Amino acid sequence: MEDRPSEEDLRKAAEAIAHATYAAALTGAGLSVESGIPPFRGPGGLWTKHGEPPLNGFEEFLSDPKAAWEARLNPRGPMLELWRTLQDAKPNPGHYALAELDRIGILRCLITQNVDDLHSQAGSRELAEIHGNYRLVRCLECGDRNSRDDINLDELPPICAKCGGIIKSDTVSFGEPIPVDVLAICQQVADQCDCMIVAGTSATVYPAAHFPVQVRQRGGTLIEVNPYESELTPMCSISLRGPAGEILPLLVERVAETIGTRS
Ligand code: APR
Repeated sequence: MEDRPSEEDLRKAAEAIAHATYAAALTGAGLSVESGIPPFRGPGGLWTKHGEPPLNGFEEFLSDPKAAWEARLNPRGPMLELWRTLQDAKPNPGHYALAELDRIGILRCLITQNVDDLHSQAGSRELAEIHGNYRLVRCLECGDRNSRDDINLDELPPICAKCGGIIKSDTVSFGEPIPVDVLAICQQVADQCDCMIVAGTSATVYPAAHFPVQVRQRGGTLIEVNPYESELTPMCSISLRGPAGEILPLLVERVAETIGTRS
């Protein structure tokens, strides 16, 4: 792993973000590693340890929603490990740095693959949770979302009070289509974005991994924040090697300086 990024790279990245017409970010599990949540791939990854999960999770759910809910309420193995860390996790400086870019109006939207709710807790408002949020449930018929704490779990699977559809966790299972409302937002972002910060993702899962490719193909700038190389590294104008919790606050400091000198 290279040493921390050069001052020159940090400044170049800050300039690109500050002068972008539409800056956005795509984040993955690496953002939450410093909050105690293991990534899926790479060093310490859950899938690295236990193998990639089967790709038919959604099919399994549909075949027996009651059993799937019982398994979810009594998680075992890697999912138990993940649930435990999710409950205890708090936002880290990387989440707060991106929330600051949102607050000062520089970051137009943050697309996250993470279901851990940490970007929202850190204060990000323009947020698209493409793989859902573990604290929410969603009706598979009408798409209505509610807090998991607000539904009655005496009967499984829970049934939507609005339309009678089956309610599932909002977290998108393998093989489940991305909900159309959040997918449309992500596509609009990718269509307008001319500078995307790609932080903490191996960029191996679609459709999320395709958004930065679309930005690049339209001549946009990609800025990577990752201790290691990813599938996207070759397409990135700047790769800031290091942990997001350290790099993003440095980057945001320089964006604020750049804007400060501009006004
Ligand atoms: N800071 C920044 N990046 C980090 C850090 C860190 N402290 N630690 C690890 N990383 C990087 C790794 O180098 C890797 O590139 O984060 C990335 C994590 O990759 P994955 O574990 O594959 O996570 P992600 O890209 O979000 O996976 C996408 O796969 O299993 C599904 O639904 C799951 O949303 C997830 C999707």
